[in-house]
This record gives sequence, C-alpha cells and structure tokens, in this order.
Amino acid sequence: MKQKVPMHQKTTVKTFELKGEIAVVTGASSGIGAAIAKHLSDLGMKVILLARRLERLKALCQELNQYQANQEQAIAYQLDLRNTDDIEKLFAEIYERFGPIRVLVNNAGLGHFSPLSTGKTEDWRETLEVNILAPSVCTREAIQHMRKHDDWGQIVHISSMSAHRVPQGSGMYSASKFALRSLTEGLRKELRELGSEIRVGSISPGFVETEFAAHFHRSEEKANEIYTQYRVLDPNDIANALVYLLTQPAHVQVHDLLIRPTAQEN
Ligand SMILES: NC(=O)c1ccc[n+]([C@@H]2O[C@H](COP(=O)([O-])OP(=O)(O)OC[C@H]3O[C@@H](n4cnc5c(N)ncnc54)[C@H](OP(=O)(O)O)[C@@H]3O)[C@@H](O)[C@H]2O)c1
Repeated sequence: MKQKVPMHQKTTVKTFELKGEIAVVTGASSGIGAAIAKHLSDLGMKVILLARRLERLKALCQELNQYQANQEQAIAYQLDLRNTDDIEKLFAEIYERFGPIRVLVNNAGLGHFSPLSTGKTEDWRETLEVNILAPSVCTREAIQHMRKHDDWGQIVHISSMSAHRVPQGSGMYSASKFALRSLTEGLRKELRELGSEIRVGSISPGFVETEFAAHFHRSEEKANEIYTQYRVLDPNDIANALVYLLTQPAHVQVHDLLIRPTAQEN
C-alpha cells in the first residue's frame, strides 16, 4: 500500500526572517568581510563588524548607517581574534546590549607563503589561531545565543579552494582550511544530535581580489600579478553566494559552495 505523506511535509516551506536580527561578521575591515557586511545590511540585518583596524570599520559603519532610519544598523568593535578571552568578553557584551546573534560569518582569515620545510613557527601559529581557533570560539559563543532563543540561526565559515587541494607553499594555510571543513561537518553532526534548527555551511572561494594575496606573499607586486592574470572574483561574488545560502528555506542546508573564477585552472 502506498504510504500517506502528511500534507505539511509536502507543502510547508518555512523560511527564516532575518530582518532586524543580529549578524556578526569577523574580518569586516576589508575584502570579502566588508562586502558581506554590506549585503547583510541590505537584508535589513543589524550588522556587527569585527576586526583590528577600527578606523576602517567605523568608516564602513558610517557608509551603511547613512541610508538607514536606525543609525545603529551597523556597529563596529575592535577585536584581535588571536585573543580568545577578548572574543568571549565581546560576545557576552553583544548579547547583553543587542540580544542573540542569529548569523555568524567567520570570515577573518589569512595565510603566509610558508613552506613546511623552512617556514616560520610564528606565521604558522598566526594562521592556526586566526583560521581555526578563533572561528571555533566565535561559533561556540554564538551557538549559546541561538540555542537560548528558539534554537535557530546560521554559522558560515569563509573557507577556501585550499580546503580542497594543496597549492605549493600553502601547506599550513591549506591545513587550516581543511580543518575548517572538519569543523563544519563536526558541528553539523552535533546539531543533528541536538535536533537544532541551527544551520552550518561554508563557502570556498578561489582567487578573489582583496588584500589577501599581498599579505600572503608579502608583496604588492605578486598580488597584482595574481589579480591581473585573468578576471578573478570580486568580493561581491562571494557576498552574493552568502545571501543565497542564508535565504534558503529552513529545510535546505548548503554545506559548501566551491566558487572559482571561470578562468582559474587549479
Ligand atoms: N582573497 C582570496 O583570494 C581568498 C580565497 C579563498 C579564501 N579566502 C578567505 O576569505 C577570507 C577573507 O579574506 P579576504 O580575501 O577578504 O582578505 P583580506 O582583505 O586580507 O581580509 C582579511 C580580514 O581578516 C581580518 N583579520 C586578520 N587577522 C585578524 C585578527 N588577528 N583579528 C581580527 N581580524 C583579523 C582583517 O582585519 P584586520 O587586519 O583589520 O584585523 C581583514 O578584515 C579569509 O578567511 C580568507 O582565507 C580569500
């Protein structure tokens, strides 16, 4: 006999209303994070911007707030993600002042061209602290907020194509992004066990024109070479993908979006 499917399972499409909810974006002082902050603000979210360069964050806040009736639509906090005590304190302050975080974008990240046979320990430590430890602590703190308030929300890790293959000289950076993949899947499993409606996903970009390459190679010239070899991605291309991921109905969880410039081979 054909099994009867309850009507609600076939027809109900639940969506999450993000307008007025709180989003936290790490590394919002440049590149992909700044573009993401703008897109979240366009969705009507209250956006909390985190990074070390406070002047940059304040300028972005001013830009975002000028179009809003609410002059506190975007708010800046200075934070060095290498200091995990400060992360905990700041997330507690955000909760007290604004309420629960609903969307967390773990975007801040960096790498160094640093071969495993000759690289500097300090470069590796910074990569692992900012790319793995910090997003883990931010995620744990944000999830506490979400769980206490109706148990829904979204964690997004900005990962990399380097979570899927290992470019030469990028062993430690790739290791950090492979780890982020593990954190995404590990959290997804935990949330299933809890029966939570919190979703977790990641976006894995190829070359995007930002300050990343100049930092990675410690050379503006090398960065320029990379970004002019062909049409690379724009930070807005990644922000658009984030909006797609966030605005899916509640029963749709996007795990990882791999996005390369069309011309990128590796
Ligand atoms: N651009 C690419 O081609 C590419 C490709 C794949 C993946 N990604 C990933 O995309 C993400 C964003 O990078 P991006 O390309 O936009 O590079 P970016 O322009 O260099 O931005 C990096 C951001 O991370 C922040 N950050 C770095 N260290 C920090 C720390 N200790 N504490 C707080 N914030 C810190 C920086 O802010 P402050 O310096 O002001 O603190 C900055 O806002 C990274 O996770 C990166 O791995 C980039």
